[in-house]
Amino acid sequence: MCGIVGYLGEKNPKTVIIDGLKKLEYRGYDSAGVAIIHNGKTKRIRAQGKLKALEEKVLNEDFNGHVGIGHTRWATHGAPNERNAHPHQVGEVSLVHNGIIENYLEIKAELIKEGAVISSDTDSELVAHLIWKELQKNQNLLLSVQIVLKKIIGAFSIVALWEKSPNELVAFKDGPPLIVGLSKDTEKSEFFVVSDVQAALVHTNRFVYLNDREVVHIKDKAVNYYNADGATLKKEITVLNWTADMVEKMGYRHFMLKELYEQPRSVAAAIAPYIDTDTHAVKFNDQGKSFNSETIFKSIERVIFVACGTSFYASMIGKYLIEQICRVPVDTDIASEFRYRRPVIPKNSLVISVSQSGETADTLAAVRLAKEQGAQVLSITNVAQSSIDREADAHMYMNSGVEIGVASTKAFTSTLALLNVLALQISKARGSLSPVSEKEYVQNLLTIPSQIEVVLAYDKYFSEAAKELQKYKGFLYLGRGVNYPIALEGALKLKELAYMHAEGYAAGEMKHGPLALIDESMAIVVVAPSDELLDKTVSNLQEAKARGGKIISIGTGENKALKDMSEYYLSLPGSLWTTNPIIAVVPLQLMAYHLADSLGYDVDQPRNLAKSVTVE
Ligand code: M6R
Repeated sequence: MCGIVGYLGEKNPKTVIIDGLKKLEYRGYDSAGVAIIHNGKTKRIRAQGKLKALEEKVLNEDFNGHVGIGHTRWATHGAPNERNAHPHQVGEVSLVHNGIIENYLEIKAELIKEGAVISSDTDSELVAHLIWKELQKNQNLLLSVQIVLKKIIGAFSIVALWEKSPNELVAFKDGPPLIVGLSKDTEKSEFFVVSDVQAALVHTNRFVYLNDREVVHIKDKAVNYYNADGATLKKEITVLNWTADMVEKMGYRHFMLKELYEQPRSVAAAIAPYIDTDTHAVKFNDQGKSFNSETIFKSIERVIFVACGTSFYASMIGKYLIEQICRVPVDTDIASEFRYRRPVIPKNSLVISVSQSGETADTLAAVRLAKEQGAQVLSITNVAQSSIDREADAHMYMNSGVEIGVASTKAFTSTLALLNVLALQISKARGSLSPVSEKEYVQNLLTIPSQIEVVLAYDKYFSEAAKELQKYKGFLYLGRGVNYPIALEGALKLKELAYMHAEGYAAGEMKHGPLALIDESMAIVVVAPSDELLDKTVSNLQEAKARGGKIISIGTGENKALKDMSEYYLSLPGSLWTTNPIIAVVPLQLMAYHLADSLGYDVDQPRNLAKSVTVE
């Protein structure tokens, strides 16, 4: 969602903040702004649109102070225009905010009654009013923030600046992530307060993650942490092994393309900690403190997945894998539904949350609910130390490296590889996996990175076909069994990147409604590997073709029947059913990428979307 960068140190705050915001722009980008102290006064510059507009505005501006805050906005309250852009300034206070203030109507009414002049449509500005009101009484920024924190309800992270105290920043979090960066050189003191470590990675790898309802106070050369009641906290410093070059395009036109091409490596990195490459066996590599996976997996009676978007589709594949390999019942829940439907979580359930960012608000809420009800939570995330990762009992990491493109690609394939590992671990722990099957599954899994390489060769094919594919008015994506979620994922990729109408369906559902949509302007994209369901899928396609639908099919090897009925036929290398989805999704990612790019859309930052959805 919104991106936050606060800085206090010897460097030029303008450069640090703007460079940091560039790294966060993928999170939200309809307006941006900075507030930096200059000659003892707040100099605030904001611009509607992409960060470039702000960069142009600040280009010739000088700032001689050493403290500032910046923000990229993804609108929640109020239209995306300059007057609603952050930072918001009231009196001597300015602040940036990510999240939602739920009781804003109440606060607004009270402020108006007191004579406050509200100059934006945002909930964020109201918090600046509240802090300024306190500050005028007590002349203490930390105290003012602590008082206000008790009055606001919602999910928010906020960084505040007071122009009268130009060596001070106060920030607090109750929801969206907020991380404090400390100088790499421990002799020096410079501080960053960011919504994502990527904004400060070029300067440091030493970070302190704030928990909910925690306040950080940075003043002069000292940093202190408090809970909401004002008690001092001792916080742990995490030293990350991510480097700044991980957030560069490295010569690719888009982050998404780079991430697509990283998939062979990221899938290999995801499974490496769990595979013994000498014996071709799966290992239990517990990364949870109190979680013994072998023991837990032996006794679980149910698995419940919670996730959103692409991560939810990955979870659906997890259901096929775990039910078929382990014979353990599995539920899959969209996290935003789970948290509000008063779910029944039976004893001995293992709740598995899947989230690339580890920050998705609904998934985090689902995890908390599951824990409240006594379930053990295993989190699958890409970002270690993210909120979900920190709250889970056990952890598996996608190990994909930073994913910047809003459309998730490498995190999805890494998750599918991890879910393969997990299904084998559960089955092994329960004594239902024969050594022969284990070896076969593992050997197959180890071939997947090179198989993805083969599929990436379709890149050229799709870049050539993209113009031709633009002519279709809609796309139906079909799959069966474990490839049904791949159809859903393919449709999501096309919708979010190319803004074209696309629906994913289980192929067997065609006769129950979607067949009515078919005419010559409809493309049918089908994932139809050579498995026991192939004949059924082919007959579904015959029905669609007879009604004028144009078929784009993805099959295994040289499948003449499929090829003959298709406008385009893509041949995947042969693979087990368990891993076929990992390679089958790659052409769908490429197709969406090239279609969007050929239409001139911003592939890395599709309209209306943000990479990490930290509010409901
Ligand atoms: O970070 P998460 O995996 O929790 O994110 C969940 C969804 O917001 C995400 O997968 C979204 O659907 C992607 N933009 C899809 O490409």
